[in-house]
Amino acid sequence: MAGLFPKWTNALPTIAAMAVMGGAVTTVGAVWYYFTPKYWEAGYMPEQPGNGFNHQLHAGKLGIDCRYCHTKIEQSPEANIPNVDTCMGCHAENRISLNFVKDERVQFIRDAYAEDASIEWRRIHKLPDYVRNFPHHVHIKAGVSCYSCHGQIMGMPEVFQSEPLSMGWCLECHRNPEKHLVPPDQVTKLTWVEQELDDRAHGRSGVDTDALLSSLRREPPQYCGACHH
Ligand code: HEC
Ligand code: HEC
Ligand code: HEC
Ligand code: HEC
Ligand code: HEC
Repeated sequence: MAGLFPKWTNALPTIAAMAVMGGAVTTVGAVWYYFTPKYWEAGYMPEQPGNGFNHQLHAGKLGIDCRYCHTKIEQSPEANIPNVDTCMGCHAENRISLNFVKDERVQFIRDAYAEDASIEWRRIHKLPDYVRNFPHHVHIKAGVSCYSCHGQIMGMPEVFQSEPLSMGWCLECHRNPEKHLVPPDQVTKLTWVEQELDDRAHGRSGVDTDALLSSLRREPPQYCGACHH
């Protein structure tokens, strides 16, 4: 599996090749992607190792909070991917209290653990190198939900990129953050956020967005140096 596709780079031919190999989009689609830089990354969904990881099951159905696995998201710019130990907390063979211990679908986790190896998850969201260290923690603390930037992860059996992550997209929110801000303690409650933002768009929300706006440390920056070296 490893080496089937090169590690994610921003090379356009890669996505075009993938589109053809995956048969997911027609040539017309590939050409459309190629000439539409703003959106060419949206929809990106590489094949994951083993049986992958199902957010719809773990975060949605089982209701495990994002921060159980993405533990550093409130403290650091980078969102961490959990290591095998985190999975073994539930999927180790001796967790007899759980009824899925014999399941072959989680064998790849135990194999990795036994070999002291890590699971090579393929990265999906990636900004170009000329964009400075994107600060997750600042956004989370300000009340920008994962939902606004990653979509409805709680409904995704496999994560895909749902937003363009383009400069115009970043700035659209930086100019009008009140449309997107939610109470900071709700940022990982993605179904609540989806409902709230929909209510807001239809004038049905009871959330005081002015209060959220005035509690920001500072206005979201629009000067070039904030995001570029
Ligand atoms: C039980 C652990 C666990 C929980 C809970 C969890 N995740 Fe993840 N997450 C992972 C793993 C493992 C990966 C890497 C595999 C993948 O991309 O599917 C990942 C990947 C991701 C990615 C894609 C990263 C990339 O490569 O760009 C996003 C975005 C993400 N998670 C968001 C969330 C959000 C939002 C929540 C809460 C609603 C959440 N996760 C809950 C384990 C978890
Ligand atoms: C808090 C407990 C918990 C943690 C942590 C956890 N899981 Fe699970 N996982 C479950 C439960 C419960 C099921 C459902 C089993 C069933 O339905 O039989 C499951 C099922 C699975 C399955 C089989 C279903 C499918 O989607 O194919 C896979 C694969 C899996 N988990 C991978 C992982 C990985 C990888 C991690 C670490 C990133 C992880 N899990 C962390 C509880 C957990
Ligand atoms: C303001 C937009 C925004 C918000 C809010 C946001 N993210 Fe992200 N996320 C991004 C961007 C942009 C990247 C790619 C960063 C890069 O390439 O440096 C990313 C990358 C990631 C990754 C991949 C990290 C890696 O090293 O593979 C994970 C996991 C992730 N985000 C999880 C989350 C979770 C969980 C939340 C909510 C608690 C969240 N994000 C909130 C924009 C956001
Ligand atoms: C949905 C809304 C939203 C999106 C999308 C968004 N941001 Fe922000 N961003 C904010 C808000 C709100 C703040 C102000 C946070 C504060 O200071 O309290 C902010 C602040 C920042 C800061 C300043 C950090 C600091 O230390 O003061 C940087 C840098 C930044 N964003 C980069 C980005 C980049 C790069 C993107 C696109 C990849 C992006 N943002 C997308 C809402 C957003
Ligand atoms: C809020 C963060 C943010 C600010 C502020 C910002 N940029 Fe960007 N910029 C980005 C991101 C993210 C990309 C990557 C876009 C992509 O991958 O499609 C980008 C891409 C670019 C590119 C590459 C071409 C393109 O349009 O995609 C240039 C050139 C650029 N920015 C110049 C600037 C200049 C000049 C300013 C000041 C007027 C500025 N940027 C302000 C986030 C920002």
